[in-house]
Amino acid sequence: MAVCGPAMAIALVLWISMANSLAMAASKFDEVIQPSWANDHIIYDGDLLMLKLDNSSGTGFASKSKYLYGKATAEMKLVPGDSAGTVTAFYLSTDGDNHHEFDYEFLGNRTGEPYLVQTNLYINGTGNREQRMDLWFDPTTDFHNYSVLWNPQQVVFLIDDTPIRVYSNQESTKGIPFPRDRPMAVYSSIWNADDWATEGGRVKTDWSHAPFVTTFREVRIDGCEWGVDNVDWESEVKRCSESQWGKEGRYWWKEKEMEMLNVHQSNLLLWARSTHLVYDYCNDPARFPVQPAECAH
Ligand SMILES: *[C@@H]1O[C@H](CO)[C@@H](O)[C@H](O)[C@H]1NC(C)=O
Ligand SMILES: *[C@@H]1O[C@H](CO)[C@@H](O)[C@H](O)[C@H]1NC(C)=O
Ligand SMILES: *[C@@H]1O[C@H](CO)[C@@H](O)[C@H](O)[C@H]1NC(C)=O
Ligand SMILES: *[C@@H]1O[C@H](CO)[C@@H](O)[C@H](O)[C@H]1NC(C)=O
Repeated sequence: MAVCGPAMAIALVLWISMANSLAMAASKFDEVIQPSWANDHIIYDGDLLMLKLDNSSGTGFASKSKYLYGKATAEMKLVPGDSAGTVTAFYLSTDGDNHHEFDYEFLGNRTGEPYLVQTNLYINGTGNREQRMDLWFDPTTDFHNYSVLWNPQQVVFLIDDTPIRVYSNQESTKGIPFPRDRPMAVYSSIWNADDWATEGGRVKTDWSHAPFVTTFREVRIDGCEWGVDNVDWESEVKRCSESQWGKEGRYWWKEKEMEMLNVHQSNLLLWARSTHLVYDYCNDPARFPVQPAECAH
């Protein structure tokens, strides 16, 4: 059989450790997510994952598991330079009809013009809850954390721990629907939306600046993982809604202090909204002559 001399042993060790580090670079993401379309437009570069849009395609990924309650975070850097016409989305969604969805949509812009962050919630298939903000930093030069916290009391959108939007559970008090019956997967994608994204669709994608690339440093999901096989729906809902511990450890996203914002967070929310909100469906009588019920506080 083969004689394994020292040089060969060293080469083998090197090869194994290289293969390991390559595998590890990918595995950080691979544990949590998988490509969902146009896999050739997803690029792994060291510790980073990139979604690429060019004139042939956009792309996207999805979490491997579904979750009922938890916190999902994308640590990412948006398309630099001219991103007009492009949209990068980070969102949670249920499958099938009458779906629930919590959305971030990052609307690109011309070089030097501000990105807008649109958030939306679909509940039982109905969306039309758009809000738009600009940001207090340039999201194309550094990584930032964009999160959604979801528990039985509230859905909170947070950027670097600053809450920018809260949808509270007002089901028992006001009969306003709250998503609590189905698990969600976590998604991200990039695509061309130059029919509406930038200045209402007036600014088109300049393909001479392609490829457009959004870069992820991490996708983190702490949540109550939905069972895979022969799931007893009722008991899964119960397990994720009521218990404080699961195979994932302690369900910290449902603890007392997660049920509503603390004073500091409320102040941050007020600050973010008073200084950066540019559109709110709650204040759009042309669209909603009667203000949607969840808007009253
Ligand atoms: C797409 O982009 C490539 C590379 O820039 C270019 O060669 C090709 O002609 C473009 N295709 C179309 C349909 O515009
Ligand atoms: C994002 O959050 C993680 C975990 O809290 C933290 O370690 C990291 O520094 C944050 N990234 C940025 C850009 O703030
Ligand atoms: C969604 O709609 C169905 C059917 O109208 C209803 O039974 C259910 O309670 C609704 N769920 C939520 C979360 O509003
Ligand atoms: C793009 O920049 C223009 C000019 O500053 C601004 O009016 C617009 O809101 C920005 N964002 C989008 C997505 O159009």
